[in-house]
Amino acid sequence: MAYPKTRLRRLRKTENLRRLIKETHLSADQLVMPYFVSEITRGKEPISSMPGQFRFSVTALLSELESLSRAGIRNIILFGIPKKKDEKATGAYSSKGIIQQAIRQIKKHFPGLTIISDVCLCEYMRHGHCGIVKNKNIQNDASLKLLVKTALSHAEAGADIVAPSDMMDGRVSAIRRNLDRSGFEELPIMSYAAKFASAYYGPFREAAHSAPSFGDRRSYQMNPANRREALREVESDIAEGADIVMIKPALPYLDVIRDARAAFQIPLAAYQVSGEYSMIKAGAQAGFLDERQLVLETLLSIKRAGAGIILTYFAKDAAKWLK
Ligand code: PBG
Ligand code: ZN
Repeated sequence: MAYPKTRLRRLRKTENLRRLIKETHLSADQLVMPYFVSEITRGKEPISSMPGQFRFSVTALLSELESLSRAGIRNIILFGIPKKKDEKATGAYSSKGIIQQAIRQIKKHFPGLTIISDVCLCEYMRHGHCGIVKNKNIQNDASLKLLVKTALSHAEAGADIVAPSDMMDGRVSAIRRNLDRSGFEELPIMSYAAKFASAYYGPFREAAHSAPSFGDRRSYQMNPANRREALREVESDIAEGADIVMIKPALPYLDVIRDARAAFQIPLAAYQVSGEYSMIKAGAQAGFLDERQLVLETLLSIKRAGAGIILTYFAKDAAKWLK
């Protein structure tokens, strides 16, 4: 049926009609707001690479969460910045670590909030890599032991979901086994399943003081060129027991999100990362782009590609705009 019988503009005429035939919907229910909680920061401190984002002390984060809850966001993901770094990431799995303290306080004051904890070692390692380093090589299996301890310490502090972001092979099954042995068989794992070695993480690394001191992350994070391999990563994390799988970054990898959505039935998340955030902020601050429209369009695109859950530094603003 072609023109003039078919006129697709007929259903674009009014706002009501446009809403009637809308295919993709955003909801604050499925947005996750990331936060940086710091053992060094007093109050809150602006992150220069991410305008509008802050490093928080635990106390300052609690008051921020008041306004987040008012905006209608129920899910957060936490990243920790410790006072001390070393060669075995002690701060990552210490029961008194910054994340563990933050989780306990947040659970006490905001029992209705879902806390996802990022499980990685880079913020706690002097060299800034996501695993143990020996002769400039990242040691896969030795790193698993520390990741397992980190995930368990987050669970013990009260995390609702643990989210390993290190990209070591076998970490999901190692974490799953250890959680089950320790009485946390009902705690879900959201794995950063296809995490690409991306320049879009630049602003985050400044925010979290987690840039590697030598080399890069290309021996463990994925090559941006590889679409089929991303599906193998997702498949193996599902086989290892992941409950939710994530693709990261989001907008430059919509094809991968679409592929994963088509191939598997598992809940799918996408992370609109720091560089995606900062690019939009920069464009808006320069007056080139309308921030609100652009943010909602990118989130809609990520959702349309197939992600249900979206982690984004715009979560709080988007929730307000969606009301
Ligand atoms: C740490 C981690 C990173 C991000 C999430 N967890 C940085 C990295 O891998 O260097 C990036 C998030 C962002 O850029 O917003 N493993
Ligand atoms: Zn890391």
